Amino acid sequence: METIEELKVHYRWSKKDEENLRKVAWLGESYADEFIERFYNYLENFRDTSLYLPDEETRKRHKDKVKRWFAELFLSKYDAQYLRRLYRIGEVHLRIGLPPHYVQASMNFVRDFIAEKLTEHMGCSPERDEIIASINKALDLNLDVMVNSFREEELKVYLSSGKLQRVLIENIRRVSWFFDIFIITALSGVGLFLILWIGYEFFLVATGELPLERGGLGILGSVLILYAISELLSEEIKHIRGGAISIKVFVGVALAALIRKVLIISLSPEKFQELITLSITTLALGVVFWLIYKVEGRR
Ligand code: HEM
Repeated sequence: METIEELKVHYRWSKKDEENLRKVAWLGESYADEFIERFYNYLENFRDTSLYLPDEETRKRHKDKVKRWFAELFLSKYDAQYLRRLYRIGEVHLRIGLPPHYVQASMNFVRDFIAEKLTEHMGCSPERDEIIASINKALDLNLDVMVNSFREEELKVYLSSGKLQRVLIENIRRVSWFFDIFIITALSGVGLFLILWIGYEFFLVATGELPLERGGLGILGSVLILYAISELLSEEIKHIRGGAISIKVFVGVALAALIRKVLIISLSPEKFQELITLSITTLALGVVFWLIYKVEGRR
């Protein structure tokens, strides 16, 4: 981790930059409420915001802390203490498993918000440009420390392991990468096969070999399974990109397969006992699906 002095050299941070930030410190106070309101509207763009900020209590706490961070951006002395505060924000985000991408993208919002307010107040003037340049440096420095603490925590775990453990970690990563590729290929293969199968079912219905009612329900069931497989594929891609896998999708696939079976059996009144058993199993799986959905949502 770089020291604050090193960071200042790397970002060509000067006394003038600190003065420029002080000049517009009123932004941090006058626009704190508008900033946080628009920031939170912006956060709704992320698919998993409610996963990380699930309830009003957490949101209120976070809003207060982000507001304070916003004010300090202009007022703080850029010293070792400030650096520690930024590092801690990164650590908290790491602890809750927040993807670094969220923070990086949010910083872009902050940049635009400040530029918009400065233009409103100062017009397009050389002074505004100079202040924006200083703010950009400050935001880049903030982002650098916040996001690097993510990587450094990972790096620390990696480097603190012995040579043998590191070789083991590397090999496990390679094997896991191979498994991921295999799973994606297998799922794509099954998906392609299903598309062919659906085409074949259409053909059977069109030539009259399969009654319309049975064929229609069969096609519906196969489309349902294709949909579940496509969900599994996107989940696997999310996993490769570093996201957490959702168990819900696996239960969803089982549910789709069961519903398909129920649809087909519903056309044979003589199999009513099998139909009841399958319906009860579907209901039980539905409850499990709902419970996982609730738990994952709360997480
Ligand atoms: C520019 C971007 C962001 C800034 C400046 C920021 C700032 C902060 C700060 C100052 C804290 C408090 C750290 C501490 O306790 O010392 C914090 C915690 C937290 N942040 Fe962020 N944050 C950003 C983006 C996000 C995003 C995009 C999310 C989620 C979608 C998020 C979710 C959280 C959560 C859940 C906590 C813990 C809150 C708690 O339980 O107290 N943050 N953040």
